[in-house]
Amino acid sequence: MRSMIQIISLGLLISPVACTHKVNIVSPEGNHKRITHEARSKKVMVASQGGGTTRAALSVLENGGNIIDAFVAASFAISVERPHSTGIGGGGFLLYFSQKENKVYAFDFREVAPLMATKTMFLTKSGAPQPLLSQEGGLAVATPGLVRGLFEIHQRFGKLPWKETLGPAIKLAREGFPLYPELHEALEDRKNLLLLDEEAKKTFYTPAGEAPYLGTMIYQENLAKTLEVIAQEGADGFYEGKIARSVVETVRKKNGLLSLKDLKTYKMVERTPVEGSYKGLKIFSMPPPSSGGIHVIQILKMLSPYELKKWGPQTTQSVHLTANAMQRAFLDRALYLGDPDFHPVPQKELLSETYLSKLSKAINHPKALGALDVKAEELPYESSDTTHFTIADEEGNLVSSTQTINGWFGSGVIAQGTGVILNNEMDDFAQKKGAQNLFGAVGGEHNLVYPRKRPLSSMSPTIMTKEGEPFMALGSPSGTRIISCVAQTILNTVEFEMPLYEAVAATRIHHQWRPDVLKIESPYLSPEVEKELKEKGHNISHEQLGCSIQAIKKVKGHWHGVSDPRGEGLSLGEL
Ligand code: DON
Repeated sequence: MRSMIQIISLGLLISPVACTHKVNIVSPEGNHKRITHEARSKKVMVASQGGGTTRAALSVLENGGNIIDAFVAASFAISVERPHSTGIGGGGFLLYFSQKENKVYAFDFREVAPLMATKTMFLTKSGAPQPLLSQEGGLAVATPGLVRGLFEIHQRFGKLPWKETLGPAIKLAREGFPLYPELHEALEDRKNLLLLDEEAKKTFYTPAGEAPYLGTMIYQENLAKTLEVIAQEGADGFYEGKIARSVVETVRKKNGLLSLKDLKTYKMVERTPVEGSYKGLKIFSMPPPSSGGIHVIQILKMLSPYELKKWGPQTTQSVHLTANAMQRAFLDRALYLGDPDFHPVPQKELLSETYLSKLSKAINHPKALGALDVKAEELPYESSDTTHFTIADEEGNLVSSTQTINGWFGSGVIAQGTGVILNNEMDDFAQKKGAQNLFGAVGGEHNLVYPRKRPLSSMSPTIMTKEGEPFMALGSPSGTRIISCVAQTILNTVEFEMPLYEAVAATRIHHQWRPDVLKIESPYLSPEVEKELKEKGHNISHEQLGCSIQAIKKVKGHWHGVSDPRGEGLSLGEL
């Protein structure tokens, strides 16, 4: 591998979309932006939501590290660079394709409910849900899983010393990075909550309590010190001792339930990826406790018998069927999905050819499937956080990982003196059957709170292979919308044969059954298409979906990488 890192700029060379239909795509702000969002024809590729993170992963590979070392370095770096989205106070999933073994591994380092959690912990005495309790403050915090997961995965597959993989993140925390628009927006959005916390105020706001100007350096010295302890002591440095005590004391002060035992006994779980075949490709994605993998595959399989390619992308027929397929998948989500260690998920049945062929026929209705006449509440607020990154190395190994603290700045609880921002992943449980979470997802029986249970996720880190060779890897943040965004990017690439950049940048839609709304982001679909969709009974709403796809794809033996132009990502490769 050559040490010189090159960015291929294609700002002016917008490649034509392979299919003949005109497609609306999101414009990057000025041609120069596309430079950071796309890289082509490299042997090694990293696509992540942060420049410091992409460079951290590449530098580890350059220094002789393997793909798992790069994964660990990227995970710690993104924890620093996107403190509103993810961090060591949260959790996530990893899909890892080992070329040598021709095998895809799935690792689950999702947060778990504290031992003292109960089914009714978020309900009033009369049984009414209290959404704010699972979104802000101590009760919202589930036991973090990220550090244990990274440590164990590194023990098993890493090559460089553990300590070295934390180097770039420590530097980023100590030497800082300039405040960028999305972090600024998150600081404004969560100001009232974060200003209640002295450490958050000192780290992220001006003395007058304002979000700093864009470009102001953000330093996280306490987090740098915490990362140094983890570098020295491994995962135990986080789950036991001073840091663990600070996490527990702070959460308890804010009325939470976390205990030292919760931290000490947290376990990562290795799972079997869900698998589906689609148009000659194999799709591997995250199994429960994520709903993501099952539903991405369901949506694609429901659509596969139809002539979407002939109709074209963003046409009435294609969008109508896609929206119906999404609704059907989300209905299954509410009915059957939850932590498989607590309730069996009928995974085989949900993905069986017979079942999917029945669903496929059912979605071909001239009218929108509708929400079975149940009108849902509107969401309290929608944030766009979590993070995804994707890495390919020279040997053909792939990493696809989605990590999160859930809402912007998670619970808003920062373990005093440590810089650790704690998640609000308890909100991904159903407070009661039928209640909605932050993303409006309807919670079923199988997703009620229980001690040690993992809340249901939508995160969908995905890897695709073709005849045993790596073909594509992708994922995104944005709650339930992740499923729709990942499925559409695959559809655009495989069914509509769009080049990767256009496949990622094309206008997306989202329908999650309840609320019965077909969300269309800008640039919207053509007025005629939207009119025809309305006539079919779709309740259209124009809103941004918050996804930020980070995708890589093999093209003529080399990797192309694309970071969604909707965000501040960086795709970079090496020859
Ligand atoms: O696991 C999940 O599905 C959510 N906690 C992910 C949250 C997320 O993507 C936040 N971004 N909007």
